Amino acid sequence: MSLHQRQQSPHQQQQPLVDPEPLSPRHGTGLQQRSISLFSPTGVIILLSLMVILGVLFPWMGMPAGLFSGNKDGSLSRWREYTLAEAAAFVGKNGTIIVCAVSQPYLPFLNNWLISIARRNHQEKVLVVAEDYATLYKVNEKWPGHAVLIPPAPEAQTAHKFGSQGFFNFTSRRPRHLLHILELGYNVMYNDVDMVWLADPFPYMEGNHDVYFTDDMAAVKPLNHSHALPPPGKKGRTYICSCMIFLRPTDGAKKVMKKWIEEMQLQPWSTTMKSNDQPAFNWALNKTYSEVDLYLLPQVAFPSGGLYFKNEKWVQETRGRHVIIHNNYISGFEKKIKRFRDFGLWLADDHIQESPLGRI
Ligand SMILES: *[C@@H]1O[C@H](CO)[C@@H](O)[C@H](O)[C@H]1NC(C)=O
Ligand SMILES: *[C@@H]1O[C@H](CO)[C@@H](O)[C@H](O)[C@H]1NC(C)=O
Ligand SMILES: *[C@@H]1O[C@H](CO)[C@@H](O)[C@H](O)[C@H]1NC(C)=O
Ligand SMILES: *[C@@H]1O[C@H](CO)[C@@H](O)[C@H](O)[C@H]1NC(C)=O
Repeated sequence: MSLHQRQQSPHQQQQPLVDPEPLSPRHGTGLQQRSISLFSPTGVIILLSLMVILGVLFPWMGMPAGLFSGNKDGSLSRWREYTLAEAAAFVGKNGTIIVCAVSQPYLPFLNNWLISIARRNHQEKVLVVAEDYATLYKVNEKWPGHAVLIPPAPEAQTAHKFGSQGFFNFTSRRPRHLLHILELGYNVMYNDVDMVWLADPFPYMEGNHDVYFTDDMAAVKPLNHSHALPPPGKKGRTYICSCMIFLRPTDGAKKVMKKWIEEMQLQPWSTTMKSNDQPAFNWALNKTYSEVDLYLLPQVAFPSGGLYFKNEKWVQETRGRHVIIHNNYISGFEKKIKRFRDFGLWLADDHIQESPLGRI
């Protein structure tokens, strides 16, 4: 699959009038195709009418300011200045933000995950933390306001040496971003993008706990298992997944994020470290346990990939009760896609029109 295709989907959004795309000058083939039809006399009249309508509607709709001014080069590069606080205010109107962090190769997974969220009608809450400028521009071009890049971009940091501030920034960026959003006052649902929603997870975030999470173990637990932090495993710590975390903007949740950042600093270095911040998250839970209200989500609704994809009998017995499926316990981009396909969970081909991004 090519990540650089620029095919245009004419109905990416259901209401053409609120689709800003025809008005924003863009680079590339899409612009050229559109320009031809838009420069007919009727095209010009429609275009002018749209500009008037959009000019009236958009200030109300909370679109990021400045989207429609500026020149061809400025129309995308302005997203460089888009801050987390601005992005949070845009997507977090209901007080909750669904966050993921994505680099360019993972755009197909982003699309797959987004389709599953759009089916539960929660897509407007999604904020993509772009890990490179290509992702920032691509997502905001298709879906303005839904991606932010929190500098410094990780790609600019790969040269940093272990132990340096830059390296620390790189490895601890996930808890730092989540902490920042909590400090802005929002609830946060963090997801890895190799996940698929089969149902709305929010009804499961019951009670007023600080931090909600799932167990990454594959062993089947009784349906009535406890919601407390499980006992530590072989390595002296728990195996809670850092892949899906729901946080309320409480002192307790902030304390866990701060401890996670601290634990990242203490971790011994390894080449896999940058993608594996899970042990540090587990130590943070261990160390804040007595001061924070933690909540283990039900395994039947949030199974690990080691359970869902490997225990067919369990999946049959619990059919209809699964909420978010995580495609872990496997590595490799193509293998993950194949497994999603085999289980009917790859929506990014046949259902691409349901994605707010369209085909990317
Ligand atoms: C936001 O909340 C309002 C009022 O509770 C609700 O009507 C609306 O559907 C919500 N929007 C989203 C995107 O969930
Ligand atoms: C590390 O992050 C802090 C806070 O986000 C920032 O001020 C600082 O410039 C970063 N340092 C490096 C070397 O990237
Ligand atoms: C779960 O149910 C079993 C059998 O009904 C019971 O023995 C056990 O105490 C329950 N566990 C919890 C955590 O409620
Ligand atoms: C925290 O980790 C220590 C060391 O492995 C363990 O003895 C203790 O039971 C853990 N505490 C919790 C609450 O998991």
